[in-house]
Amino acid sequence: MIKIINLKKQYGTDSAKCIALNNLNLELPEKKFIAITGKSGSGKTTLLNMIGLIDKPNSGAIEVDGKNIFKFSKKEIREYRRNTIGVVFQFFQLIPVINCFDNIVIANEFAAKYEKEYFDELVEKLDIEDLLNKYPEQLSGGQQQRIAIARALINRPKIILADEPTGNLDSENSESVVNLLKSVVDQYDITLIMVTHDNDIAKQADVNVCLVDGRTDAQ
Ligand SMILES: Nc1ncnc2c1ncn2[C@@H]1O[C@H](COP(=O)(O)OP(=O)(O)O)[C@@H](O)[C@H]1O
Ligand SMILES: [Mg+2]
Repeated sequence: MIKIINLKKQYGTDSAKCIALNNLNLELPEKKFIAITGKSGSGKTTLLNMIGLIDKPNSGAIEVDGKNIFKFSKKEIREYRRNTIGVVFQFFQLIPVINCFDNIVIANEFAAKYEKEYFDELVEKLDIEDLLNKYPEQLSGGQQQRIAIARALINRPKIILADEPTGNLDSENSESVVNLLKSVVDQYDITLIMVTHDNDIAKQADVNVCLVDGRTDAQ
């Protein structure tokens, strides 16, 4: 269970303050597909940034495996970012000056635990073998996102954070990316937390969370 407890995030100061997360309380089951929906500005990206330890809240906690991630030591933060979390973005965020193979294994080499067998398995599953020697700009959006998914998976994360991963894809590629993400959740026991605007995608999730002004609509 990922427990989000009284999470508050405020940007700016008094005169120009914006409350992105307003004492949010939420329990997310592990090894499931969780869809986060809500209008633009409702706090979806802020929430993912908190779970990914990209940003810190003003108050509140997030417990993963019973530990408050905001109390982690520097070493625990590094390990959490490297081994627990994988991230998929709307605009892929591949590094343009290195080829796709290097884009995938870069996180892995930082972790110094390259697993050839697992890499090959991902390549087959994501159907990216012919893309590995190419550069990101030579790929279509759908292909780039499949490379980005491989990169997110390479360290065997427990949690994948995906912020509108289909937001820049046509419907056919969207469907394929969602199906791939769903199948890795099942196969590798991953918790998938996906922000989406697409109701047809949200409907496929095990759990739906709708944010309204930085809280759940149930709060
Ligand atoms: N870095 C920032 N500085 C100031 N305000 C921000 C920042 N990031 C987000 N916000 C504000 O916080 C609110 C929630 O933003 P965000 O989490 O990006 O929403 P969503 O992803 O649901 O569109 C919005 O009102 C947004 O303008
Ligand atoms: Mg957003």
